[in-house]
Amino acid sequence: MQLLDGRKLSKKIELQITEETKKLKESCGCTPGLAVVLVGQDPASAAYVGMKKKACDRVGFYSITHDMPQDISQEAIEQIIIRMNEDPSIDGILIQLPLPAQIDTTKLLELVDPKKDVDGFHPFNVGRLVTNLDGFVPCTPLGVMELLKEYDIDVKGKNCVVVGASNIVGKPMASLLLNAEATVEICHIHTDDLKRHTLNADMIFVGVGVINLITPDMVKDDVVIVDIGVSRTKEGKLVGDVEFEAVSKKSSYITPSPGGVGPMTIAMLLSNTLKAAKANAQKKKQN
Ligand code: GUN
Repeated sequence: MQLLDGRKLSKKIELQITEETKKLKESCGCTPGLAVVLVGQDPASAAYVGMKKKACDRVGFYSITHDMPQDISQEAIEQIIIRMNEDPSIDGILIQLPLPAQIDTTKLLELVDPKKDVDGFHPFNVGRLVTNLDGFVPCTPLGVMELLKEYDIDVKGKNCVVVGASNIVGKPMASLLLNAEATVEICHIHTDDLKRHTLNADMIFVGVGVINLITPDMVKDDVVIVDIGVSRTKEGKLVGDVEFEAVSKKSSYITPSPGGVGPMTIAMLLSNTLKAAKANAQKKKQN
């Protein structure tokens, strides 16, 4: 069994991004800029946003967090997004999800300029991904593909089972795998007899937030396991969706959680923001 070490790879990617950021600053005076919208006091969301901001600092990006109260109106957030769309110092816009119930999330995501949509949640970029065209791809599944590439794991022709069908993880994960010529099954909360599907899988990608959902009797020998789940146990420990100790004994490769996919998500946010900044720099040169 070999660990898929996301912490190690994310550090390597951060070094590359730091170098490229320096070069971009030298060549055109452009500093990649990320704007984050955070609503309310959810501790998990605040922690994620804090990690994203620190990562921006490490690689030399400019970042700004719009910290808003839980009872903010739809109009007030829309105004901020419109301003960020027009602000030339901002290359990427990220709205931390989930948002409070009074907010129309879809409408906000559709308001973000697709060229600044570093989360890849705008329907324009979702459509580009599904049709296998270049665009912004959601950070978590993009990070998974980078991790597989680093360890020379080719998905072409393999039976890949994705457990979870969210817009943020499961659906884009399935699209990326399909684009890479895997055979893809998507399972979700209503799937009957999950084990019937996972037992057949060469690779399992699971991200539903259910502790110990994947047990050793559900996987075949030499399976590749990518654990995208994050939950906190009663004792306060962060864990994934896979019964790690037992399942790792049957796996050829497995991500730890934490330390697998999580750091890759942040590395891909930096990568997407740099991509947006480069495109903007190119546009400035042409004008
Ligand atoms: N909430 C949980 N995951 C994510 C993510 O990748 N991006 C954003 N914006 N919000 C999230």
